Amino acid sequence: MIIAVDGPVAAGKGTLARRIASQYGLVYLDTGALYRAVGLLVLRRGQDPNDQEAALKAAQSVSEISLEDPELRKEETGNAASVVAANQDVRAALLDYQRNIANQKPGAVLDGRDIGTVVCPEAEVKLFVTASAETRAKRRFEELKSKGEDVSPEDILADLKQRDARDQGRNSAPLVQAEDAHLLDTTKLDIEAALAAACRIIEETVSAQSG
Ligand code: DC
Repeated sequence: MIIAVDGPVAAGKGTLARRIASQYGLVYLDTGALYRAVGLLVLRRGQDPNDQEAALKAAQSVSEISLEDPELRKEETGNAASVVAANQDVRAALLDYQRNIANQKPGAVLDGRDIGTVVCPEAEVKLFVTASAETRAKRRFEELKSKGEDVSPEDILADLKQRDARDQGRNSAPLVQAEDAHLLDTTKLDIEAALAAACRIIEETVSAQSG
């Protein structure tokens, strides 16, 4: 079984997808971490994320970066990730890796922007997780502050809006809700409530498919 969890930055999809995977004993992949690793590699090489060739080379050697590297979570890395993610060649270079994980037994939960539309259009369950921009910016600010990053709430909201626009406006695999995805708005939900809502959707969808 494949569960696709897509949505904009800081909607809570990472935490939710990880909890769904653990609840059902499935493999978990944070696909944003792959784009972040490409962005981080470009920055560490002193190159420009807008440089198409440099970004492709980084995507081809993305295994040089551990997906647990704490620098992946930095705001600067996230912005570089959003830039390299608009590069069609980078996206193509990361596709096989994502599909191999998706096809592992007994199944997988992948979170990202294009899982339900491009990476795994055949996913049995698709969730599109969102929340208001203000709520997402507040969550992101708290997260970065707790890690000791020196950021202001205003800058975070501005960054988030810029990333939304870039992720939704790019030509290649833009962030969009798949036609058959279930919308889950977490603006007023804490993680436990969001998990309960997600599990309800998953179980209803799977039981409708098997019945
Ligand atoms: O989910 P995140 O913030 O870690 O993702 C970082 C960037 O990577 C995000 O701005 C868009 C991009 N991304 C993508 O284009 N496709 C995915 N499947 C996952 C992330």
